[in-house]
Amino acid sequence: MYEDRIRRPALMDKVMSASDAAALFEDGMSVGMSGFTRAGDAKALPLALVERARRAPLNLTLLTGASLGNDSDGLMANAGVVARRMPFQSDAALRRKINAGEVMFIDQHLSETAEQLRSGDLKPIDIAVIEAVAITADGGIVPTMSVGNSAGFAQQAGRIIVEINLNAPLALEGLHDIYVPGQRPHRGAIPLLAPWQRIGATAIKVDPERIAAIVITDSPDSPSNALPPDEETDAIARHVIAFLAGEVAAGRMGPELLPLQAGIGTIANAVLHGLLDSPFRDMTMYSEVLQDSAIELLDSGHLAMASASSITLSAPVHARFIRDIERYRDRIVLRPQEISNHPELVRRLGIIALNTALEFDIYGNVNSTHVGGTHMMNGIGGSGDFARNGQIAIFVSKSVAKDGAISSVVPFAAHVDHTEHDVDVLVTEWGLADLRGLAPRERAPLIIERCAHPDYRPQLRAYFEAALAGGGQTPHVLEQALSWHLRYRREGSMLVK
Ligand code: COA
Repeated sequence: MYEDRIRRPALMDKVMSASDAAALFEDGMSVGMSGFTRAGDAKALPLALVERARRAPLNLTLLTGASLGNDSDGLMANAGVVARRMPFQSDAALRRKINAGEVMFIDQHLSETAEQLRSGDLKPIDIAVIEAVAITADGGIVPTMSVGNSAGFAQQAGRIIVEINLNAPLALEGLHDIYVPGQRPHRGAIPLLAPWQRIGATAIKVDPERIAAIVITDSPDSPSNALPPDEETDAIARHVIAFLAGEVAAGRMGPELLPLQAGIGTIANAVLHGLLDSPFRDMTMYSEVLQDSAIELLDSGHLAMASASSITLSAPVHARFIRDIERYRDRIVLRPQEISNHPELVRRLGIIALNTALEFDIYGNVNSTHVGGTHMMNGIGGSGDFARNGQIAIFVSKSVAKDGAISSVVPFAAHVDHTEHDVDVLVTEWGLADLRGLAPRERAPLIIERCAHPDYRPQLRAYFEAALAGGGQTPHVLEQALSWHLRYRREGSMLVK
């Protein structure tokens, strides 16, 4: 039944149940699991570890590519399996544990984890759990719908558990391009000069002796939970497209634009969806996640090709993608996240980085992670990899959240993931502020008038005026800087009644 997927006969006797494989884990271990934005995650081992933890204490440091699907993060967190977690998550139950201080979460730029492991900056991985389409005759692990950090984990781990997922079609083989940078300080340039270039192998090469267990599964990835576009995201998309059209008209890029990166979530997906109504053709993506919008743009011909680290789709688009995979084979490349997000490559390719903010302040500092300045939402993900190093860093957000009780434009961001130095363009449904070449005192009026919700503009103008009286390069009334967040906590709204 799975001989075509385990092509090294000597490994056949490593096939075992997930609960037998779970017996290999010991309390305190560091575990690297495949999975990136709900795609390509191990399906059986997380559940087996939850069971295993019922019998004896099992507190693990869990590293992944990014978020896991199938509620695995939440189930493991609730079972007490996860003591430390990095570098990203987006699970409601795990989020609660993190914000209660019960799980230590290390919120990290997604390009950095593999590099830190390789450099010995982090405790080495004891066991890697990698979902695969197949194991090749020479012991190569062929990933499924994401690559994430799997190559780094598998190459470093003492032992490897491979989950062969019969639900992932063999046709996925060939989509991946596995390249692992060498050791510093004397490594050469990463030889990638264009988004479509392949620079590595189609499988993760490991010493087959380290494959300690093979578990057979047959479960789909969790579907994407991005919501469909709405009036506001359509307006945001129109502003972004008009801005990019201006860049083309000014001769700063051709009609195919520069390679695009688009972040996770409803808003980024919807903005990209808006490009279906744009004049741009033959665009390329050099991103970390491909959502439904990327597949639609490939179908429409707006997008010539897309490079990423994972493919996270809704159920109907996933079914279509798998059915028609031959049509996409030459136009999609899946890479390790340290390559999809690598600062060297993002800078070289001149990426247009499009990410979502929870809030931003009148000077352009962006908070993507901390609700109210204290509580973790998901994590910084790859947004910093792209924003810091790309040619244009665009951040989008709806102008208000929670039915208008929260303004996304505030006097002072209560947590800063992307400083004003990394942010070029801010967009809400009301308009777009192009901050390039502007000093803080020039940025504030533009951000207030173009991006803030009209209900909040008078309050923001009053704050800025009062701040100017105190002087400075970046004027503030420090006593009032976080007063909007405090008012929301106290009164349930940032709006002064
Ligand atoms: N304060 C409090 N809550 C806020 C908020 C604010 N300023 N702005 C938005 N929210 C809430 C929304 O109300 C919504 O809550 P709900 O789930 O209870 O409805 C939630 O945050 C998500 O916001 P939404 O407007 O639906 O946007 P999204 O799905 O596009 O997600 C981020 C936005 C910022 C959470 C998401 O993009 C993210 O995690 N980004 C960081 C990682 C990243 O950028 N990765 C990119 C590289 S791939």
